[in-house]
This record gives sequence, C-alpha cells and structure tokens, in this order.
Amino acid sequence: MTGSSFPAWLAAQAAGREERGLTRRLAESDRGEPLLDLAGNDYLGLARDPRVVAGAVAAAHAYGAGATASRLVSGTLSIHTELERAMAAFTGFPSALVLSSGYHANLSVVQALADGDTLVVSDAHIHASMIDACRLARAAVTVTPHNDVAAVRHVLASRGQRRALVLAETIYSVLGDAAPVAALAGLAADYDAVLIADEAHALGVAGPGGRGLLAAEGLTGRPDVVATGTLSKSFGAQGGLVLGPPAVREHLVNRARPFIYDTGLAPAAAGGALAALRVLQAAPELAARAVGNAAALADACGAGPPAGAVLSVPMPGPREALAGVATAAGHGLRIGCFRPPSTPDGISRLRLTAHAHHTGEELALAVKVLRGIVPGAGR
Ligand SMILES: Cc1ncc(COP(=O)(O)O)c(C=O)c1O
Repeated sequence: MTGSSFPAWLAAQAAGREERGLTRRLAESDRGEPLLDLAGNDYLGLARDPRVVAGAVAAAHAYGAGATASRLVSGTLSIHTELERAMAAFTGFPSALVLSSGYHANLSVVQALADGDTLVVSDAHIHASMIDACRLARAAVTVTPHNDVAAVRHVLASRGQRRALVLAETIYSVLGDAAPVAALAGLAADYDAVLIADEAHALGVAGPGGRGLLAAEGLTGRPDVVATGTLSKSFGAQGGLVLGPPAVREHLVNRARPFIYDTGLAPAAAGGALAALRVLQAAPELAARAVGNAAALADACGAGPPAGAVLSVPMPGPREALAGVATAAGHGLRIGCFRPPSTPDGISRLRLTAHAHHTGEELALAVKVLRGIVPGAGR
C-alpha cells in the first residue's frame, strides 16, 4: 500500500512536517562564521575554559577515555566519588549520585521512587526527560497547570495512592521562569509526598553563588526534597546528578535501572565538571553576571526580569520564530527557537540564553538585533 509501507510513511510524515514549518535539522555549530551564542546552555562560559578543559584532559590521562563498566561492576572511579562529594558540599545536600546524563538522572529518580501505589503529579511544562521517566515508571500521572500550587494541593489531597511524587523544574528550560519551590516543598511535607525538582537550569546560575533555587530557599536538607541536575550546562561538561538524602542515593544505586545498566560517567566529563565547579567556587560572581546579562536581554525583548539565564519570547507562529532565528544569524547571533510539538501549549517561542562571559559590546549588539526581531519590543 502506498504511503503505509516502510519507508514510504517516513517520507509522508517528513512532507507533512515540512508543510507545517516543523522540520528539525542538525547543523554543525563549529562550522562557518562564528556566531555570538545566545542559544546554548554554557551559561558561565566554562565549556572552553582552559582550566576546565585541562581538568577533563587530566582525568582522561589518569583514568582512561571511558569508565569501562557500569558503576556497580567496576565503573565507579575515585573521580566519581570526589565529584559526588564536591557537588553535595556545594549545594548543601547530604549526598549526591553522578550519572551519565541529566536525562538519566531524571529517568532514574522517578523510575526508582515510583511504584504501582504512587501518584506522580507533574507540571505541564516539565522537561521531556521527566515525561519519559513517568512512562518508564509506569506510574499513574496527573498533569497540573504550570506553576499552579492550588492544583497540586488538590490532586495530592484527593489521591488514592499511598505515595506521591511532585515533579517540577526549579527554572523551566523553555519558559525560563521559576517554580514556587517553597510552596511545593510545603505541600510535599503536608501530604506525605516527595518533591523532585530538576535544577538543570538553576545550578551555577541561581541561588547563592549558583547553588540553585533549592539552596536559596533552604530546602536542601529536607528528607522529602530530591534534586536532579546536569553537568552539561553551567558546568560545561557532560553528565547528570541526583542530590538528596543518603537513603535516596542508596535506593537509586540498588533500584534505578537507568543508573544500574549504564556505563559510568566518562572520566573526562567528571574531571571537566569538577574543574568547572572549582572555577565557580573561586568566582561566585559568575552566577550573578549570567543573570544580569539575561536581564539586559529581557529588557530588549520587553520581558520582565528573568529568574535565571533563560529567556522565552513568544512569537506569532513557527515560521515567524524561524525567520527571527535567521535574521539573528544574519547579524551574527545564534538564538534558539521552540516550536510545537516541543511546546506543550502550542506556542512558538524564541529561546535566548545569557552567558556570564559576554562583553558589553556583544550585549549591545544582541540588544539592537533583538529589538528588530521581537514583535512589540521597544525599537
Ligand atoms: C530541564 C532539563 N532537564 C534535564 C535535561 C537533560 O540533561 P542532559 O542534557 O544532561 O541529559 C535537560 C537538558 O537538556 C533539561 O533542560
């Protein structure tokens, strides 16, 4: 049958995507004219920092190119333990577990903490990795409107399941706004639930010296608060983190399939992340600088003050968003955009990220170009 056999149906789907302006394409960002990066998540500019690269190189020399096995077999290296201790001490959590990506961190914590008698209460704008985590856990899931504390309370109060997890991002990856973490942690305590808060876009940027929003709210020592994070954004490397009580760490080591059946984090990534953490600890002002630069960009787009380094700018549709990206590129700027199906509310958006190392001159260029792209922004 035409159109239904393989690979004809792939071509039919591709044509449909093209027609709706939704085709995604991979582009090598290290080729062509270098662009000022307002799209990536290297918020502190550490991915190419010589101290961070040296940390990665030194770890590769010391431990090899790969961890060679899963953590429970022989893939736990002393650099993993050192990184876990350092991240726990930095954020104020009692313990940390390092995984091979932030994606794995979210899969692990939800899969291991949810069972057949658990309700997962998930914010409507939660990251795809948390959504996939719910599927992996096969848990009952209720999605609540974005940042709607009353809705979360209602769902927790009326649940039939014994246990509950509340999923949120402390700073949302696409919208760039902050979650009401203190209120959500309060609900977790009141309703015998666990708050799982993804700090991927907050660590290194938000909170005191970049310690994250949970640290800012004094929530890192709570028995019912677990954080996840990534080493691939502010820390400029690769890898994931779970932060929480030692009992959670112990449980994940024994029960989290995405941790147990995965090779340990590559030594170079661990060494790079550890070096990045040391750079941040020696220069805590980097965090505030990233947020300050985000405020300048937000002002240019007519948006309110940002919670972190991510800005979300609604556009009329996917084509306008793509046209904005192309115009920015023509002026030497790389900006990102999110279009359906990546946006749960169907709104196409430009996504801009601010970086601590951008100069005044670079920011001035960005401000000028953005004023010309964003509908309704002050010209
Ligand atoms: C909110 C959020 N959580 C998790 C992840 C996954 O992190 P990683 O890229 O380390 O797998 C990302 C990043 O892409 C993210 O934005």
